[in-house]
Amino acid sequence: MKIGVVGAGNVGATTAQLISQQELAREVVLLDVAEGIPQGKGLDMAESSPIERFDTQITGTNDPNDLSNCGIVVITAGIARKPGMSRDDLLATNADVVGTVSEHVARVAPNAIVITVTNPLDVMTYVSLKKTGFQPERVVGMAGVLDTARYRYFLAQELDVSVEDITAFVLGGHGDSMVPLPRYTTVAGIPVTELLDQPTVDRIVQRTRDGGAEIVGHLKTGSAYYAPASAVTEMVKSIVRDKKRILPCAAYLTGQYGISDLFVGVPVKLGAQGVEGIIEIGLTPNESTALLASASEVQEAVATLDL
Ligand code: 2OP
Repeated sequence: MKIGVVGAGNVGATTAQLISQQELAREVVLLDVAEGIPQGKGLDMAESSPIERFDTQITGTNDPNDLSNCGIVVITAGIARKPGMSRDDLLATNADVVGTVSEHVARVAPNAIVITVTNPLDVMTYVSLKKTGFQPERVVGMAGVLDTARYRYFLAQELDVSVEDITAFVLGGHGDSMVPLPRYTTVAGIPVTELLDQPTVDRIVQRTRDGGAEIVGHLKTGSAYYAPASAVTEMVKSIVRDKKRILPCAAYLTGQYGISDLFVGVPVKLGAQGVEGIIEIGLTPNESTALLASASEVQEAVATLDL
């Protein structure tokens, strides 16, 4: 398997490093328009291989043709959030970037599965679907895995238990309207609502919603990348190893949850064929209303683009 990572910024480079270190591919191509950056970062990573003990070949390049025959392409290219910017402020600029990259991917890697990471995530995944012309099963967005990881981490800290024992879901768009689901959150099988009172759960849910902005607030000149890169890598692993993990991802909906022709975060089965199934879970009227509100924010942003 050859995997392409487009964008050699912090998210892209860290993703390439994790994929390589875990030997999820024989070859990783790190592509960026900035001359020297993918080459330098790629070579630096490759030079860590004798110590980290991996044989994945890493190529840094400015030539989109080097994505030829990739089985997976991760798109991270675009501008990142600055303090005070919402993800949607990035909309127009990043739609151009992701559109151009997606057209390249369709030409040189027509059988690839595309994972989009660029924000605003759910909208960019839609752009990628339209510009690649791929089947919706082969276009998926990363966000739910990241949002869920933040939620699980905050819960584990609050309860002073292992992160491994927290199972949870975050639905909806990757934005301030995302919908963490305490009702489906368990600690080693015990509903979290048995262990934490409602105000504490509410506080953690809010911190999860603000998770991206909290990191931007600290970094000031950039946004999160370690956890986003880990989230992408978990998705890549499920595809490459055909693990069929159930992960919250931005998937193309065709009526599920009452939503059509839109990418929104829902639980999906991720395997060698990409999105192999979308799981519809029962929602309370409140949860359903929150999910539809989140979806309509994504829809409004999509509607501003000429696709
Ligand atoms: C995040 O949630 C910036 O969307 C990115 O960290």
